[in-house]
Amino acid sequence: MEYDYKQLMSKAKEASSKSYSPFSKFAVGASVLTCSGKVYSGCNIENSSFGMTICAERCAIFKAISEGEKEILAVAIYSPNEDDCYPCGACRQVMYEFQGEKEIEVITEEKDKLNIKKLSDFLPYGFKIHG
Ligand code: THU
Repeated sequence: MEYDYKQLMSKAKEASSKSYSPFSKFAVGASVLTCSGKVYSGCNIENSSFGMTICAERCAIFKAISEGEKEILAVAIYSPNEDDCYPCGACRQVMYEFQGEKEIEVITEEKDKLNIKKLSDFLPYGFKIHG
């Protein structure tokens, strides 16, 4: 599927502006392109009970899956705090669960330049129950 990753990244940026991160002050936004061609975005949402915090990537993925999406093709991640904001280990595993035939592409930004990697660059040998 052809999709403009610059546009996907701009949606991740927009989502990062909605971040609720008063504790870390580390805003993150993520946008997910699904195999239906739709895009879902999310931001990190922190909590006074710190462990309840959800990352931007999982927020976006759970929005997509809860709307009936089955597979993810690409995830763009943005933080105004850091170039090449990479996904945490938990989010890598959640992406892996919703990877279809095509490997998920992970898009980050470094000084206005997009970097595109495969999910397997971040998570080789992911865990999956093939029920
Ligand atoms: N965070 C994300 O949103 N995504 C990641 O992949 C790494 C971390 C958030 C969680 C927390 O709100 C803040 O960044 C600092 O850890």
